[in-house]
Parts: sequence; C-alpha cells; structure tokens
Amino acid sequence: MAVTIKSKREIELMRESCKRLEYVHNKLGELIRPGISTYEINKIGDRLIREQEGIPNFLDYNGYPASICVSVNEEVVHGIPKKERILEEGDIVSLDAGLIYKGYHSDAARTYAVGRISSEVQQLVERTRQSFFEGIRFAREGCHLHDISNAIDDYISQFGYGIVEDLVGHGIGTKLHEDPQIPNFRQRRKGVLLKAGMTLAIEPMINLGRSDVEWLDDDWTVVTEDGLPSAHYENTVLITKGDPEILTLGNW
Ligand code: MF3
Ligand code: CO
Repeated sequence: MAVTIKSKREIELMRESCKRLEYVHNKLGELIRPGISTYEINKIGDRLIREQEGIPNFLDYNGYPASICVSVNEEVVHGIPKKERILEEGDIVSLDAGLIYKGYHSDAARTYAVGRISSEVQQLVERTRQSFFEGIRFAREGCHLHDISNAIDDYISQFGYGIVEDLVGHGIGTKLHEDPQIPNFRQRRKGVLLKAGMTLAIEPMINLGRSDVEWLDDDWTVVTEDGLPSAHYENTVLITKGDPEILTLGNW
C-alpha cells in the first residue's frame, strides 16, 4: 500500500484527533505517582478518551485488552494494565495512548519517572525524547523517510544504548497503522520521499542495555531480554512544505 497524502479536510480532522489525545496524555501525566496501579491509569485514560468524544483505538486491536498501554521499567511497549501492578518510587512508566475522532487516528507515547529515579535512567528517558526531535529535523518535504531513522540512530548510538529494531513507527490516518514503516535505526536504503500531507507516528523505543527484546506469555508485553529499563516517546507528526507540525504536541 502506498503512503497516503491527507487532504486539507483530513488534516483538520487529524489535528483535532491529536489535540484531544494530547489533552488525555497531559491528564494522565498528572496521575503518575508511587501507589497508583497500571489498571487505574488505563481506567482513567479510557474515560478521558471517551469524554473527548474519542474511541480508544488500541482496545481490541488484534485482541489487545485495554485502551492504554502501560509499560514499566524493562517493559518496552504494550504492557497490559493490571490491578496488582502498583507503581513504585524509582520506576519509569511508559504510557502509549491513541484515539479515533471522526474516523481519524492519533497515537502518542510518553515515559515518566515515578518519584525520584537514578540519573542514569533519567538520562535514558530524556535522550529517548530528544532522539525524536533529532529525527524530525528531517521530517520535511524533500527529505527521505530514512533520514529520520538515521538521525535517531546517530544521536542514540553515541550513548551506547540499544535501539529496539523489532518494533517501528508508522504512517497513521484512517487506520492506526498505515505505510510506511519507520525504523529507528540506520537504514541502507533512502526510504520514500517525504511529501506535505503525510502523517507519521514516529516512536523511538530505546533500551538502557542491549537492543534485544522478547514477548511475554501474555503475547503482548514486550520486554528487554537483559531486563534493563527501556523508554518510549512518540508523537503523530504532519509533513508540511516547511517545518513539521507535531500534532500531539501543542501547536494550538
Ligand atoms: N502505539 C502503538 C503502536 O503504534 C499501538 C499499540 S498497539 C495495541 O503500535 F495493540 F496495543 F493497541
Ligand atoms: Co504508534
């Protein structure tokens, strides 16, 4: 399938979907503290999405059983919320959330510190976020898709972190996952030429240790093989004729 170019009307709907998701994320961020369960975060997130007139796009996606992915420490992505999983001081927690508004999907992820965390892990979280911004310097008409991938890799590799290769970013629009796939590690090919009107979910997943990951027996939770922590940062981005618009990050 080819990469879709959104019309003016579709871009407006993407903006609206993403704005509503950003609101949900900001509210969820305020909840993060020792003592809250991952179940509670999902419950409140699901309610916030619906209050925003959104439909949770993760719920029932290939059987995923929740609206928010909540991944703690060595869990990379797709953690399943649970009553027994209580956040503790020193943890990091990644919240991945998305919604559908008037047929248009939005997708974004943030990693938070729970109380005080080690400076080593704090740096991992900050650099994972920064790698997204390094990547989107190339999210411009006329650049190639893999310029983004290579920029993320170049930035991250200097720290010796492991870049997750088994999961990638993606196009987004009337479906959660559209073409193209967006790797966060160096590519030999250039990838597609970027054009105004493309909407991309760019989402580096970065491990403190090695890049290898495995799946838990729940068939969803992705964890680092070495058990070291992992961070995730994602926004839905619009390619324009000028600077990219980060739709899930307050251009409002
Ligand atoms: N943000 C995730 C992604 O882009 C979506 C979670 S998949 C789900 O792949 F199944 F958990 F919903
Ligand atoms: Co995504």
